[in-house]
Parts: sequence; structure tokens; C-alpha cells
Amino acid sequence: MLVLGIETSCDETGVALYNGETQHLAQVLHTQTALHARYGGVVPEIASRDHIRRIAPLIKTCLNNSHQSLSSIDAIAYTAGPGLSGALLVGASIAESLAFALNTPVIPVNHLEGHLLAALYPSHAIAFPFLALLVSGGHTQFFKVKAIGEYQLIGETLDDAAGEAFDKVAKLLGLPYPGAKQLSVLAKLGDPNRFRLPRPLSQRHDLMMSFSGLKTAMVHLVHTQQPMDETTKHDLCAAFQAAMVDVLVNKIRLGLSIYRMKRLVVAGGVSLNEQLRKALAVQAENNNWQIAYPPTELCADNGAMIAFAGTLNQRHLKSAGRFGVYPRWVLGQPLPTVHG
Ligand code: KG4
Ligand code: ZN
Repeated sequence: MLVLGIETSCDETGVALYNGETQHLAQVLHTQTALHARYGGVVPEIASRDHIRRIAPLIKTCLNNSHQSLSSIDAIAYTAGPGLSGALLVGASIAESLAFALNTPVIPVNHLEGHLLAALYPSHAIAFPFLALLVSGGHTQFFKVKAIGEYQLIGETLDDAAGEAFDKVAKLLGLPYPGAKQLSVLAKLGDPNRFRLPRPLSQRHDLMMSFSGLKTAMVHLVHTQQPMDETTKHDLCAAFQAAMVDVLVNKIRLGLSIYRMKRLVVAGGVSLNEQLRKALAVQAENNNWQIAYPPTELCADNGAMIAFAGTLNQRHLKSAGRFGVYPRWVLGQPLPTVHG
């Protein structure tokens, strides 16, 4: 089965083709980072307009690169939520209209399921059940995953997502948007012990998290360090990253112990963080955990994870035509009914 995957939930236009039999995956991706950089965050209207400009040429390129034609597509998977509604509508409209014209079915996919199942690509290296941490710019959530399609939300952030906090603190330190990656590069040069930041909700025996207090603590700390030299900047990056990593690792440890599990999936853009991976590798070694991450190129938003997830979970497969988008679709909840 050849599945075309389309992702447009935020600021990446992603298109991919996945062949379930051969496991061959081809993808093309356009990132809008440069368009949003001067605003310091994603501007929804600009995002939707750029998706409209990019999507059809990207589909063509993906087909050409794979030496495939529209007629060889068996189903079209697209991100139906969660995400920005205007941006989601671009992907949903092109997927539904293309499928209608080609007389193929569509598979509306939850963006978070795409992130999560990407850790199973290509060879299903981790067995069910497992604990999953989805940690991105829009979400920081824990799921108990029993099987493909069986997700139970068991904890989440009460305010900012981890990636959002990383990006906001990077901006505070004058790093260009989206600054998380650069913050982690500078953190390598710094001393994580010079400044001590809080570890919010670490006393709570549950999987709820909060990052806005940590961000506020950083705002105060940065104000006390003006004018700031480079060493101080590096030390602040290191202190912030250490706090974020501590919170995530401690909640993971708690989650695995509460649910008596040893298997873990970490997915979403923040799962690219080297320090987080290092800290988890130490824990895995000491506690005999098995950890799976998506391949690097499938960690942040992309169309491949949507094609792959659509192939693995076809519960939402339907004929093209009537459709909706679900900006707040909670993974594990049924697809809301479309009225009208
Ligand atoms: O999964 P993703 O591409 O998009 C969402 O669904 O949100 O995640 C993007 C987030 C951004 O906030 C980005 O700054 C963060 O992932 N990110 C990182 C790193 N690389 C990307 N955060 C921490 N360390 C990194 N190395
Ligand atoms: Zn994402």
C-alpha cells in the first residue's frame, strides 16, 4: 500500500510517500522558520499562506523523486489536528480534494500520533506497552501506549510546552528564533552549577509538569546579570537546560515506576536535545530501561511520520469528501464528528 502523507499543522510543510510492503520512505520538507523569525514566533496567517504556496509543488517533487505517479497512490494520510486551524485546513483540503479526484480513501492522522509512532520506524524496535513522552514546541505530554491506536494521556504540562520554554528563554538571551538548538549548543560551553533554578512540580507524585515558573525565574536571573558577558550567557544556558532536563528525566523516572514499565519512547522536536538523551542514556543503563527515539530526520515536524502513522493506524480511514480539522484533538480521544 502506497500512502501519501501530508503535514501542515504548524510551520513545516511536509510531504512523504511510504510503501508499507517495501518500507520505502521518501519525503520532502519545507520549513518556514525564516518567514517567522522576525516575529519571534509562528504567525498563523503567514503559516497558512505559505503552506498554500508550497504544498502542490512539494507533492509533485515527492512523486518525481520516487518515480511514482498520482495514480499509484492507494491512500492519503494528512494531519487533521492538533495544530493551527488555518494551517491544518490547507493540508486537509488538498488531501481531501486530491483523494476525491483520484477516488482513493483518506486517513486523518493525529499529529501527536505521528510523532509517537515515528519511533517505531523502520523496524518496530520497541515492543508494546511503553511509556511515551511527547515533547515538542506545542505539547509536553505523557502517554501510556498499549498498542497502535491505544493511547492514554497520563500527564502533561499545565502551561508552556517544553520546546516553547526553550525557545522563549533563548529569545530572552538574544538568540535568533527558534533558539532552542542554539541554546543547547551554548549550554555546552557553560557551567550548569553556577546558577540554581527551580525544578517545578518535582514534589508532586504525578506526571504533571509546569515550565512557565522556570521561565519567569530565568527572566529575573537574566535581569540581575546585566550587562551580560559571554561566560554568564553560557552559564545561564547551561543552568536552564539542566533544569529542563532534570524535570523531564525525573518525571520519566516517576512515570516508569508508577506504571511499572521499562520501555520508553521520547518523541517530538525536544527529543533532539543532546543533554536530555545523555541523561536518559545514563538512567537507561542504571535501571535497565529500553528507550526508542524516532530517527533524527523524523523527530521534528515532517510528512513522513504522517504517512507512516496513517499506514499503521487506519482506524480513521474514510472516503474523501466531508471533512473537518481539529485544532485541539487530544491523542487517545476519538476523532470528533463532523457536522453539516
Ligand atoms: O515537534 P516539533 O518540530 O514541532 C511541534 O510539534 O511543536 O518541535 C519543535 C520544538 C521547538 O520548540 C524547538 O525549539 C524544539 O522543538 N527543539 C529543541 C531542540 N531542537 C528543536 N529543543 C531543545 N533542544 C533541541 N536541541
Ligand atoms: Zn510536532
